[in-house]
Amino acid sequence: INRIGVFTSGGDAPGMNACIRAVVRTALYNDLKVTGILQGYQGMISNQFIDMNSRSVSNIIQLGGTILKTARCADFRTPEGRKLAYENIKAEGIDALVGIGGDGTFTGIEVFSREFDIPVIGIPGTIDNDLYGSDFTLGFDTACNTVIEAIDKIRDTAASHDRLFFVEVMGRDSGCIALNSGIAGGAEAILMPETGTAIDDLIGQLEKAADGKKTSTIVIIAEGEMNGGAYNVAKRVKSKFDFYDTKVTILGHLQRGGAPSSFDRVLASRLGFAAVNLLLAGKSRRVVGLRGNKISDINIEESINNKAFKLADDMIELSNVLAI
Ligand code: F6P
Repeated sequence: INRIGVFTSGGDAPGMNACIRAVVRTALYNDLKVTGILQGYQGMISNQFIDMNSRSVSNIIQLGGTILKTARCADFRTPEGRKLAYENIKAEGIDALVGIGGDGTFTGIEVFSREFDIPVIGIPGTIDNDLYGSDFTLGFDTACNTVIEAIDKIRDTAASHDRLFFVEVMGRDSGCIALNSGIAGGAEAILMPETGTAIDDLIGQLEKAADGKKTSTIVIIAEGEMNGGAYNVAKRVKSKFDFYDTKVTILGHLQRGGAPSSFDRVLASRLGFAAVNLLLAGKSRRVVGLRGNKISDINIEESINNKAFKLADDMIELSNVLAI
């Protein structure tokens, strides 16, 4: 290969810039050329390419978001869209792709490499931590840090007013952000899609907390949880248990921004480096990841076809034990 195309796609995640930097510099170090593709798959279709050099990625390791921009692109789901994308990237001289993103990104490069025989490597980048093949995805650690900073602040006011707060966090269908930040923020209860919680059970937990002389309480609700979101849960709890004054906070997109943590910067650098090295070794259709603190890679189909279940039993138990 001669020129790598690098892009970010799907929801942005802190650490994507650090990863772009690692891809660009590892490639240049090995005498490869690099093109940055703007707005993910959309940029391939609409010819948005920039030549990258070592200075293009200076002073970005600390930045949230993605300098290459990102998009969710419907056109790339059609054979005509992908054909146009292929013609455009070939005209640019790009002969291998590194895509940073989530399952949609991986599905895109999987189909693309089958149709057009171009080497591709996927790097897991999403705050949701919902991808198979890596213990952690880029941005997850930073998002959890953002959430616990918010929980700490909410706890100040919850305690001062003796209130019950329902805090809704992101994660799509995954409860990883909820569980991790719930434990780290000392939440009294955590509602996650994977475990499910009946409202009556939650009320039981809250009654116990009140009996145990807790005067304020924080409940973390994962957005993918089945009871219809934090406002619904709050309403249903309040209709049966109005011991507390209740409030709802939806953290929303602030969880996606901010400077990446040390963990995410190092992970991003390791994964970007590994992705280019795989291409140099003649590999394709792989997803890189961190497993047991070792960088490894798996087949892209294996990553797409397996559901990541990352809620460790001991952590679920721990979150209940420590909430008494
Ligand atoms: O996948 C990352 C994520 O932030 C999810 O947690 C959330 O459900 C979704 O993206 C929100 O997507 P959008 O930014 O398109 O509203």
